[in-house]
Amino acid sequence: MIRVAVFASGKGSNFEAIADYFKKSKDVNISLLVCDQPKARVIEIAEKLDIEYVVFTSEKYKTRLSESEEKKLLELLRLKNIDLIVLAGYMRILKSTILSAYSKRVLNIHPSLLPAHKGLDPVRKAIDAGDAYAGCTVHMVTEEIDAGEILGQSKVIIKADDKEEDLFRRIHQAEHKLYPKVIAEIAGKLK
Ligand code: GRF
Repeated sequence: MIRVAVFASGKGSNFEAIADYFKKSKDVNISLLVCDQPKARVIEIAEKLDIEYVVFTSEKYKTRLSESEEKKLLELLRLKNIDLIVLAGYMRILKSTILSAYSKRVLNIHPSLLPAHKGLDPVRKAIDAGDAYAGCTVHMVTEEIDAGEILGQSKVIIKADDKEEDLFRRIHQAEHKLYPKVIAEIAGKLK
């Protein structure tokens, strides 16, 4: 059984889709939610689904953890026998302590067709650029942001009158289908 920790900071719609997809799986167990925002909606989802969660935040930083905090989190992940880390709207940048310990075992989903529109506001950037398509990409996490190996993508057509929120809603729907499938594939290779 591959034990997965999902890291999330916000609404948790991807966490919910992933947990739902694997709820009866004999190969993949969604074992832990790591959240850095004590009031995030994703925590309510973990409670509802009876998935263990930990609120793990930083004393020092808003967008990352200190080295000693990453070490502490790594100890926890090892204690819980976590095999694979899945970032789903986690708003902190992971550094080498966790990334080297979990080399090729940290995934992320980004709401653009990478390598287009890395970083913040990718959906707005796709509309502003006049792109025909937006979408989502699951990729390996490396120290360079949104630049690791691409593992899967879904395209979403941008309509002429699309507002950012409408397009984002359709991208989210695509994410909920794509992410669990890629997780299953990667977990299959770790067995
Ligand atoms: C998703 O759009 C994902 O691509 C991005 O953060 C968002 C998280 O949404 N990395 P949710 O919390 O899963 O609803």
